[in-house]
Amino acid sequence: MKQFPIIRIAENSEELAVLMAEFFVVEAARGVQQRNRFMTALSGGTTPRRSHGLLATERFNSRIPWHGVHLFWVDERCVDIDDESSNFGSARSDFIQSVEIPENQVHPAPTMIEPEKAAEEYEKEIISTFGVDALEIPRFDCIFLGIGTDGHTASLFPGQEMLWEGGNTVLAVRGGKPNVDRITMNFPLLNQAKHTVLVVSGKEKAKIVREVLACPEAGLPVQRLKPVCGKVTWLLDREASELLPVGFLDKSSG
Ligand code: 6PG
Repeated sequence: MKQFPIIRIAENSEELAVLMAEFFVVEAARGVQQRNRFMTALSGGTTPRRSHGLLATERFNSRIPWHGVHLFWVDERCVDIDDESSNFGSARSDFIQSVEIPENQVHPAPTMIEPEKAAEEYEKEIISTFGVDALEIPRFDCIFLGIGTDGHTASLFPGQEMLWEGGNTVLAVRGGKPNVDRITMNFPLLNQAKHTVLVVSGKEKAKIVREVLACPEAGLPVQRLKPVCGKVTWLLDREASELLPVGFLDKSSG
């Protein structure tokens, strides 16, 4: 039986940011309540920034059990954290510096060392924070992803499929905008997550959203997201969803 993803539609980008922040609150509260911790990984780029900013506002900040939250990054550009393209640097200014999350629970990727070494170090940090042995792939509670207009997610870009083989959970790659060295979580790690939330906004993403969701054979990187036993939720604004086939949203379990 064809499984339709969970799709939630927000009227506009501001409502989408609020919806994403609500998901963060609900998932964090559930994780801390059930397991005394919430292991999450954030994406960079522009889409999540407004939502990240909301996490520091009274409306959301006071509802998040920061004492139990561990923040990781799905990917990171190999630049200084004060560089405007740093995903961690953006999150730090958007909310981390304004909330009571223990410093040792914020896990930015190492970026000022040789990229392959950085990928290895980050993989070790993830494993040691989860407290699993090196052979077990950690299961994040919730991973927030974006997609590019080329169908990439994280820093898993079209044409780099050969890099994803070999089973490493964190990779060193080069590409994207900016075209720089990057550290990225790989599909074996992403697909272990209990909940994967893709957040997509804007008219310019409408075509790729339709391709990804309605053309399963398109062979796009983000279509390799096949959670082992987790769920996938798409949070779209009206513009990003406008090219989905008529009736598609009725079938989605949203
Ligand atoms: C990155 C991101 C990347 C992002 C998409 C969408 O570091 O570039 O993690 O995967 O989610 O490129 O980016 P926008 O939100 O800027 O469109």
